[in-house]
Amino acid sequence: MEIQDREFFVLLGPSGCGKTTALRLAAGLEEANEGGIYIGERRVNEVAAKDRDLAMVFQSYALYPHMSVYDNIAFGLRMRKHSKDEIDKLVRDAAATLGIDELLKRKPGQLSGGQRQRVALGRAIVRRPQAFLMDEPLSNLDSKMRVQMRAELVRLHRELGATFIYVTHDQVEAMTMGSRIAVLDAGRLQQVGSPQEVYDRPTNLFVASFIGSPAMNLLEAEPAQVAAQDNSKKAGARAGGVDVRLPAGLANQLKESGASSLMLGIRPEHLGLNVTEPAATFDGQVDLVESLGNEQHVTLSLQRASVIARLSTTERIEHGSSLQLSVAPEHVQLFNAATKERIGP
Ligand SMILES: Nc1ncnc2c1ncn2[C@@H]1O[C@H](COP(=O)(O)OP(=O)(O)OP(=O)(O)O)[C@@H](O)[C@H]1O
Ligand SMILES: [Mg+2]
Repeated sequence: MEIQDREFFVLLGPSGCGKTTALRLAAGLEEANEGGIYIGERRVNEVAAKDRDLAMVFQSYALYPHMSVYDNIAFGLRMRKHSKDEIDKLVRDAAATLGIDELLKRKPGQLSGGQRQRVALGRAIVRRPQAFLMDEPLSNLDSKMRVQMRAELVRLHRELGATFIYVTHDQVEAMTMGSRIAVLDAGRLQQVGSPQEVYDRPTNLFVASFIGSPAMNLLEAEPAQVAAQDNSKKAGARAGGVDVRLPAGLANQLKESGASSLMLGIRPEHLGLNVTEPAATFDGQVDLVESLGNEQHVTLSLQRASVIARLSTTERIEHGSSLQLSVAPEHVQLFNAATKERIGP
């Protein structure tokens, strides 16, 4: 995997997939058994952590409790033998950037979680490293503070013009902050791309079901000849007895793939009540209606499966009623059930 200079790169994946390990390898806190790690042109496998010119920010802030905020931020600079005036300027600049200039005399115990995280960031930014490595730095904050700090980190990234490598298991954080996302599962890289690419064209079933909330609907399906608009038979798919028309390009790719068992993927927002020229229509019974105020999540039980749709709250939908949900051809996604890989563009 290659991280571009100055990008906000996010490592995303479930607990235990290897995000922290990947970050510790880059930082030099963990030794690689094989493979190369490069910063710019320089191979750093054998370079000590302190000589890699990277700063790491952890989930736990790791501040010195007996030192003031000022001294916590200045600590690394003093170790590096900067002059007193130089240190003072760097600490005050960092504190101003992070909006903690009023707190420099306090001890960490007298700060809120968000303020402590800012001090930890301050300690990293005074060093002007080549890259910042951040391991779930916001996960100890309450949800409102997290949203605020997310925006501040994005601003900080822009202001510093530095490379950020940011670890999270929170897909909303990854989608909203990252210029690119790498999705990991079980120690393996699954996909690297912009948030939109990863959302729109997941490379396999893992990424498809990991990204998006509610998760993508996945239905067992197989290739089949289905009736087109003009009633002629065309290559398509069948999912639980329902015919699914496919755009010509996708039908060709399905044929070329040679796949015999499929998973059909439809995002909840792509199931609707009034879709013109739908690829497929699912008839079922409303099992659950969850209203979120601005939208509702409707679970429809089909003969052998169920699907969930995100619908506008203007539609009145009763629990237990029958309902038809359709999808447009361009929103049908296919995966080879055997290899779990995406079929199609
Ligand atoms: N020092 C170690 N020695 C052996 N195995 C380890 C070590 N550290 C972590 N592991 C294992 O490596 C895998 C990846 O761990 P890692 O901490 O990188 O996951 P993570 O993606 O950061 O998870 P989380 O979201 O829970 O922080 C896990 O199965 C873990 O048990
Ligand atoms: Mg971790």
